[in-house]
Amino acid sequence: MFDKMKLWKNNSESSNLQDTIEKLKQQPIPAHVAIIMDGNGRWASKRSLPRVAGHHEGMKVVRRVTRFANKLGVKTLTLYAFSTENWKRPKLEVDFLMKLPEEFLGTFLPELIEENVQVRMMGNKEILPKFTLTAIEKAIDATKENDGLVLNFAMNYGSRAEILEAVKHVLTDSKSGIIDEEQLTEEVFSSYLMTNGMNDPDLLIRTSGEIRLSNFMLWQLAYSEFWFTDVLWPDFNEEHFVEAVEVFQKRQRRFGGV
Ligand code: IPE
Ligand code: IPE
Ligand code: MG
Repeated sequence: MFDKMKLWKNNSESSNLQDTIEKLKQQPIPAHVAIIMDGNGRWASKRSLPRVAGHHEGMKVVRRVTRFANKLGVKTLTLYAFSTENWKRPKLEVDFLMKLPEEFLGTFLPELIEENVQVRMMGNKEILPKFTLTAIEKAIDATKENDGLVLNFAMNYGSRAEILEAVKHVLTDSKSGIIDEEQLTEEVFSSYLMTNGMNDPDLLIRTSGEIRLSNFMLWQLAYSEFWFTDVLWPDFNEEHFVEAVEVFQKRQRRFGGV
């Protein structure tokens, strides 16, 4: 690990990064990586900065991680950006978080287009401020012809609400004769979730030392590999991502088999 740390920092950073990527690619790369980006507030507090400074710093990490995941050949990167429970936070902080998509996409959308990234969003759109939704929808629209990495933002997302909505939708479809009990398999139920069309995450990463899911992808993470780190999200970098993938590659996934 020490060697690698040194490598990231020296002048030939990009060629060493390329070597590491090639090495990782010799084994299966997780097709879908989901990240609970946690610890922005603590990162800021440690520096006597307002919590929102941590969110701002965290936004830059989103860019780095997206670029790296894309280079690695990850197909889908789902990022937990705002939960249905995060509305409980002080108004000032919520307001700041709602403005971040506009700032992030305002700055990086051309780069995302260039890098063939497809932007998506999952979450309840109804109560998002108009400017937040407009920024996201603009990015979704501008990248819809791309066929590279799917960058899926979980924004005002909560897994229990997602599952409940799916159940309600199934009930409606059942009443109108679109579906009956026999047809409702796990696969069909999955198609009622916000991740419709996506594979389940292979790897879940959570930063900041918290070992919990916080209402994130409860259905979809049933057989994912989990990797937790104490690193706070604004400090998360390519090196940590590599470590997570290396650990993933050493895991033996059995899916209930032997
Ligand atoms: C994660 O960082 C970002 C969001 C939840 C929006 P936090 O803001 O939760 O940071 P901590 O956990 O308080 O340090
Ligand atoms: C989960 O982090 C939500 C996001 C990262 C967006 P939280 O910081 O909200 O989770 P808890 O409150 O520690 O469980
Ligand atoms: Mg947190």
